[in-house]
Amino acid sequence: MNAVKPMVLVTGGAGYIGSHTLIALAEANYDFIVYDNLCNSSKESLNRVEKIIGKSIKFQEGDIRDADCLERLFTTYNIDSVIHFAGLKAVGESVEKPIEYFDNNVNGTLVLLSVMKKYNCKQIVFSSSATVYGDPATTPIKEDFPLSATNPYGRSKLFIEEILRDVFVSDNEFKIVLLRYFNPVGSHSSGTIGEDPNGIPNNLMPFIAQTAVGKRECLSVFGGDYDTKDGTGVRDYIHVVDLALGHVKALDYFTSETSISPDETRVPFPKTNPLTVNLGTGNGYSVLDMLKAFERASEKKVAYKIVPRRAGDIAKCFADPSYAKKMLDWEAKKSIDEMCEDSWRWQENNPDGYQNPT
Ligand code: NAD
Ligand code: UD1
Repeated sequence: MNAVKPMVLVTGGAGYIGSHTLIALAEANYDFIVYDNLCNSSKESLNRVEKIIGKSIKFQEGDIRDADCLERLFTTYNIDSVIHFAGLKAVGESVEKPIEYFDNNVNGTLVLLSVMKKYNCKQIVFSSSATVYGDPATTPIKEDFPLSATNPYGRSKLFIEEILRDVFVSDNEFKIVLLRYFNPVGSHSSGTIGEDPNGIPNNLMPFIAQTAVGKRECLSVFGGDYDTKDGTGVRDYIHVVDLALGHVKALDYFTSETSISPDETRVPFPKTNPLTVNLGTGNGYSVLDMLKAFERASEKKVAYKIVPRRAGDIAKCFADPSYAKKMLDWEAKKSIDEMCEDSWRWQENNPDGYQNPT
């Protein structure tokens, strides 16, 4: 058996991607503590992760903007790295509430970083997003493409990336990995944890799943006239279990004494620090591809109608994931059929998400 590695602080660990990442961390024998204010999640997700991993989870309820509460954690535990998921993520809401979004996401990250620095914890993996590429001129998208943002949520991710790059310039003992996720979907194969959006889902997969289970009548397909194979928007959907493994690879990268440089020679870590990588599959699927795959997985008909484009949407977005393979030895393995089967298992078993747990 491997020796237990030092403690990882997982902010936002009760949320959708965080809860799946806890399982990957446990399987890789990382010890961790979850810090979450539960503003968009429930403690029930952690209860269920405990059942999956077969051990109890250390959890502290708290806000990343609460320096005193964070400091208590750093004095209690020997935290040597942070996976930073905590943040607000609804694009539409961010347009309505920019001050709240910048306060929560940007200010929250600044508080976290200052506490980390005070306690000499200098390793952070940050949840960024493909949204930082704005409307890319071409696809597949590589990490060195120009960056832009069209809404406060996206801008909060861009600002945090810039802040982390500046933190490294000021103190190159920091080891930083920026993970740019494409479109995370799916659930753990147990069907006991998954995405549990509040109210009417904004994102495609939960909306399709809720339509299949009978909670919604009809999917509105936003735009049928894009320059894509069937006129509907194309995205890089990635199974959340694959995505979770990317975080373990990022932590492993911190502990490896050398890494692989872009010219494929082994170099000391700082050469590629901060490391910025896309986490995507490299495959683009249309809205109708996803709808058909979900119908196959659920054996349910999903009613849909084509409606006008959603403001701010782009035609095509998919990753070039080769840099993640080269630098982290990570690649996505799961197909869209597995994404839909696992989403359906979660949705069918938990029509109300984490509410009314059986
Ligand atoms: P989520 O809402 O399910 O999880 C985020 C968690 O952070 C929640 O449990 C929430 O309660 C917690 N949180 C929010 N603000 C907090 C604060 N101030 N203090 C403490 N906890 C706080 O979202 P997710 O889908 O798991 O996303 C995780 C991260 O990945 C987010 O930063 C998000 O922006 C980013 N991301 C998500 C997607 C996606 O499609 N899900 C895509 C790209 C990037
Ligand atoms: C959304 C966010 C983006 C975030 C990304 C990853 C918006 C505008 N953008 O991107 O910031 O980084 O999630 O989680 O919210 N669609 C429909 N009907 C629906 C819902 C979606 O047709 O009811 C279509 C969209 O037009 C798009 C595709 O499905 O073509 C995927 O949409 P969605 O799941 O919302 O993700 P993104 O728009 O890629």
